[in-house]
Amino acid sequence: MTTDLLNTQLCRDAKIEIPIICGAMYPCSNWELVAAASKAGGIGIVQPISLVYAHKTDFREGLRKIKAFTDKPIGMNVITEKSSDVYLDRMKKWLDIAVEEGVRFFVTSLGNPKWIVDRVAPVGGIVYHDITERKWAEKAVQAGVHGLIAVNSGAGGHAGAKNAELLFKELQDFGLPVVCAGGVGDEHEFKRVLEMGYAGVQMGTRFIATTECITHPDYKAAILKAEAADIVLTDKISGVPVAIINTPYIQKTGAKAGPIARLLLKNNRTKHYMRMFYSLQSLWKLKNTLHNGAGYKDYWQAGKSVAGIVKVEPTGEIIARYAAAVRG
Ligand SMILES: Cc1cc2nc3c(=O)[nH]c(=O)nc-3n(C[C@H](O)[C@H](O)[C@H](O)COP(=O)(O)O)c2cc1C
Repeated sequence: MTTDLLNTQLCRDAKIEIPIICGAMYPCSNWELVAAASKAGGIGIVQPISLVYAHKTDFREGLRKIKAFTDKPIGMNVITEKSSDVYLDRMKKWLDIAVEEGVRFFVTSLGNPKWIVDRVAPVGGIVYHDITERKWAEKAVQAGVHGLIAVNSGAGGHAGAKNAELLFKELQDFGLPVVCAGGVGDEHEFKRVLEMGYAGVQMGTRFIATTECITHPDYKAAILKAEAADIVLTDKISGVPVAIINTPYIQKTGAKAGPIARLLLKNNRTKHYMRMFYSLQSLWKLKNTLHNGAGYKDYWQAGKSVAGIVKVEPTGEIIARYAAAVRG
């Protein structure tokens, strides 16, 4: 019975053995981490902006490095928001390269995923879309996605507002596999969400505290030390709430955007530009977390799953332990 819990629609769609997605993370998704997650039987998701800009690897070359390390499937993250033509153009080119290099599993987030569904359909590509609310799920289902990733209130990155139970209930009747993103920091939580009916998990924070993730050791140490109550939301990074550790720097400078920025973010016409400004600025801020230790302007993104994370481990050991806990 418990072994069946591991055999989910996500496994069949992504052609993997263990229903664990190593979620896309800017700037933490280095190719070695992605490759290790896939090799271990889960699926690592390449974050193109992270690979190319934070880790200075040519996109195709990065995919080939992963393929040289493992012949297991990998996925690609496509952030669908059409914030500028230059961005969209670049994303389309990366998507073409991924398809040429044999990537068949795509995790989309923000915006409407239809153009990606249409682009990858001819090669049998599978698209799972990140959502935080039923209304976004409805749009994604209309666009033809194959699965939903329910980003809950415990998640790292852009967190949702609802807990895992509530979101699952809201999304059940679409008849699509639903993956749980957020709050899964140990194998017991993994088992619990599978028993709830989820088709798998997408974890981010857990995979930062691994030997393969090349982010700064101080960031990993902060994850080990933090409790769920130390996670706060900030709109300073991209204008929408992002979960971060409440470090002394954040305590000093505050997690909320200033009054002028808030006003601009509220206005429909300026909102668009403000987000762009924020994301350019934030790419720099976040990239620094790779190289600078504590004391620097630490915007350390992490979810409430920090509560279950007690040591830095090899990615393969984490995935094997999670699977063993379900097998019993
Ligand atoms: C540091 C960090 C960066 C992230 N960057 C992205 C991203 O670029 N694209 C994306 O779709 N999700 C991003 N996420 C979300 C993760 O893919 C995943 O859904 C989330 O981390 C799950 O919650 P957890 O951290 O509690 O496991 C990020 C999460 C973290 C912690």
